[in-house]
Amino acid sequence: MGTKAVTDIQAWLHERIPVSGVQLRELTNEPVPNHLKRWWFCLGGTPAYLFVVQIATGILLAFYYQPAPASAFESVRYITHDVTYGWYFRSLHKWSATFMIAAVILHQMRVYFTGAYRRPRELNWVIGMCLLMCTLLTGFTGYSLVFEQLSYWGATVAANICDAVPLLGHFLKQMLLAGDGYNERTLSRFYILHAAILPATITLLVVVHIALLRLHGVTELHFDDEEQPQHFNFFPDHLLTEITIGLVLMILLSVLATILPATLGPRADPLTTPEVIKPEWWFYVSFRWLKLFSLTFAVLSTGFIVAAMFLWPWIDSLLRRWTKQEEISVWIGVVATFLLIGFTVWEAVVTH
Ligand code: HEM
Repeated sequence: MGTKAVTDIQAWLHERIPVSGVQLRELTNEPVPNHLKRWWFCLGGTPAYLFVVQIATGILLAFYYQPAPASAFESVRYITHDVTYGWYFRSLHKWSATFMIAAVILHQMRVYFTGAYRRPRELNWVIGMCLLMCTLLTGFTGYSLVFEQLSYWGATVAANICDAVPLLGHFLKQMLLAGDGYNERTLSRFYILHAAILPATITLLVVVHIALLRLHGVTELHFDDEEQPQHFNFFPDHLLTEITIGLVLMILLSVLATILPATLGPRADPLTTPEVIKPEWWFYVSFRWLKLFSLTFAVLSTGFIVAAMFLWPWIDSLLRRWTKQEEISVWIGVVATFLLIGFTVWEAVVTH
């Protein structure tokens, strides 16, 4: 194509989309602090990338999945064994969900241990907490869609836990199950939550999260080996880091999907309670907690812990003022991390 044709196309485009190259560069070229060259400091991009993988593979699965007790299990079996590459896309969806949840938790830990939630970024922490809740709920509703024994009984246990919430409990259980017990409308409720409401909410929250991040800039951290805080350009330097992480993840997900593909347990049977009921690994910590205490205490204390996590930036500020210890949050974080890992491993290794 001649240069005249290119210039004509540029002029045509510019007249219809009146944004200049300079404006675009200004929008994308945020100076990024040097520590974001290390992947563990920019873990926030990883769940964003995996969320896109979830949407793409989820749309493909939706062509075949049927959200009704009579046909759900058979449709997943069909995807896994009969649809061309169905096993691959189902396995990618499953592994990417696992990685997304792990990445959200690790990103939150990075933000926590670097104090990046402190003033003026408190609201972005709260939005992050909403993202954590939505991600966990998406994982739970997805697990329930398969309609295996553990999907069915896991959802039944979750509904009973909702029921134990004071005042609102019965209403929450009815909202979750679309009735007083698991019925033929329950799966379509899980499906609309999993495939429409939660992804749309996550998309909106991520947009606000990134917009606030862009307005504040990433927190500057001070390192002993850096005299002055140094920066590099978002475009193309940081984008290249993110693309590299994305490509490595894509390979890793593909390898895992091939050597450890998603399997299918026995079909749900409402009349036979399985001997062992286990949720997915990300709920092991709450499940262990439930087994250690009475249901009401476990539910109330979990509500209290989640509320404290939402309000953490303000609780941390009060604690620092009262104790005069600048880094008290680090010690609390270390104890919480040990408890989280300890309870998860405990639940993983015991049968009951
Ligand atoms: C789907 C989930 C999430 C996505 C896609 C996401 C995305 C991001 C991205 C891209 C950044 C830029 C810096 C980085 O990469 O670390 C960031 C920063 C941040 N995120 Fe998230 N995030 C998510 C969940 C969370 C959670 C669960 C929390 C905490 C409860 C959180 C709190 C924050 C805060 C406070 C910052 C600012 C950090 C700083 O200034 O250094 N985010 N997030």
